[in-house]
Amino acid sequence: MAREMIIVLDFGGQYNQLIARRVRENHVYCEVWPYTKSLEEIKAAQPKGIIFTGGPNSVYDPASPHYDKAILDLGIPILGICYGSQLLAWMLGGEVATAPVSEYGHTDVSIDNSAVLFQGVSSETVCWMSHTDYIKTAPEGFRVTATTVNCPVAAMENPDRKLYATQFHPEVVHTKEGMKMLHNFVINICGCAGDWEMSSFVDTKIRELREKIGDGKVLCALSGGVDSSVAAVMLSKAVGKQLTCVFVDHGLLRKNEAKEVCDVFGPDGPYDLNFVMVDAHERFYKKLAGVTEPEKKRHIIGEEFIRVFEEEAKKIGAVDYLAQGTIYPDVIESGLGKSATIKSHHNVGGLPDVVDFKEIVEPLRMLFKDEVRNAGRELGIPEYLVSRQPFPGPGLGIRIIGEVTEEKVRIVQDADYIYREEIAKAGYDKNLAQYFAALTNMRSVGVMGDFRTYDYAIVLRAVNTSDFMTAEANQMPWDLLSKITNRIVNEVKGVNRVLYDCTGKPPATIEYE
Ligand code: XMP
Repeated sequence: MAREMIIVLDFGGQYNQLIARRVRENHVYCEVWPYTKSLEEIKAAQPKGIIFTGGPNSVYDPASPHYDKAILDLGIPILGICYGSQLLAWMLGGEVATAPVSEYGHTDVSIDNSAVLFQGVSSETVCWMSHTDYIKTAPEGFRVTATTVNCPVAAMENPDRKLYATQFHPEVVHTKEGMKMLHNFVINICGCAGDWEMSSFVDTKIRELREKIGDGKVLCALSGGVDSSVAAVMLSKAVGKQLTCVFVDHGLLRKNEAKEVCDVFGPDGPYDLNFVMVDAHERFYKKLAGVTEPEKKRHIIGEEFIRVFEEEAKKIGAVDYLAQGTIYPDVIESGLGKSATIKSHHNVGGLPDVVDFKEIVEPLRMLFKDEVRNAGRELGIPEYLVSRQPFPGPGLGIRIIGEVTEEKVRIVQDADYIYREEIAKAGYDKNLAQYFAALTNMRSVGVMGDFRTYDYAIVLRAVNTSDFMTAEANQMPWDLLSKITNRIVNEVKGVNRVLYDCTGKPPATIEYE
């Protein structure tokens, strides 16, 4: 893909994906690379600019991530943020020390807006700080371009060497004029044209897929969710009938979902695809029997999926590629980058070590969720499919806390169906990014008619988020919640209590396992 690119060099900070998003919002393509990538790889990618991210370490800690100094002599503009700014200063002989007062949160900052990075920014503005170390003295050749009460070098620059640094985080919304600063960096300093569009991404990707796959055969793991649907349609445009889409009903789908997917992608749907549906629910239930540990459940489901695909591939014969709808947060949250492993998730981490395909193809690997939806629109996929709420690959398997049984699947399917039906009736779905019912592993005492019950508690989850990396619980109207609760306890056998989850992400995650 020949295009302008910014590399975000990841030193382990928590806002790193956000930096990539902000750069892309300026219509400049951007990737997050771990700091372990070599200088040679960076040179070969010919980025227009590099951003050193924040990170939890101190530059003086021998175990903390450092980088080859030669990166500073490539002539490529570099912006260091937080730890990245300290690293830059330290590499060039500036003084980094423990700040006498560590700053955290909203901080007033005085800006020298004659600096290119701060063009158009107010001279007194608010930024977001989060540091214990600071740059005490800027390296030789650098000019201080921002200060705070406690931070003598809140920003610095050496335009001759194209090196820039901010102690604060321009990528978070709390830095009031942070977007302007990042715009100044990528457009005015790095000289990017800012012409990266989803349509060009889609066209280039289709061309790339065609070149890569040649006349080989591809099997696409289709779940009917947004990501795999977009991947499937993209691949079908690239290689036509060389593609077969396999939809596995693992018995952990939402109520009626198998039929809905078959209606869209099967022979009676709008797409001209080779489509195979495999009813595999029995083998999944068998493998999951007695298993309660969340990661184990995920790995079993991931592994079994692949085995089913391998079997289907053998039936088709000579299939070289397995395609998946993995997206960027999946890659990052699976711990393949530098951040801690939260869940071995999202298609990626669940893969067994041995996969009997020549290669795995993941055309959406570099896109965020809302970007995938836009790619889907570019591909002409109907809006109701593109704007669907996400549904995880392991399905209800991770919405049933503890052991999965056929009975529990039935309970959560029925409760979730009522929940979705009532939300749709109330027109409330437009307010939510994701919502679903899950089955707690808790039974409690209740009374129905004149009888004692000892049944399960269903929990309702509804979140607002744009990138699914962080989320807030939705403040759902009480009337609506009561109506849903009444219907669930009255209509779903085995449930006598309904709870609402008020937790955000972090500290919780969106799914339960
Ligand atoms: P968490 O639970 O990590 O979820 O906050 C974030 C988003 O990812 C979805 N999710 C998955 N999607 N395979 C997927 O395709 C998975 O294994 C998986 N786990 C979580 C989740 O529904 C939410 O939208």
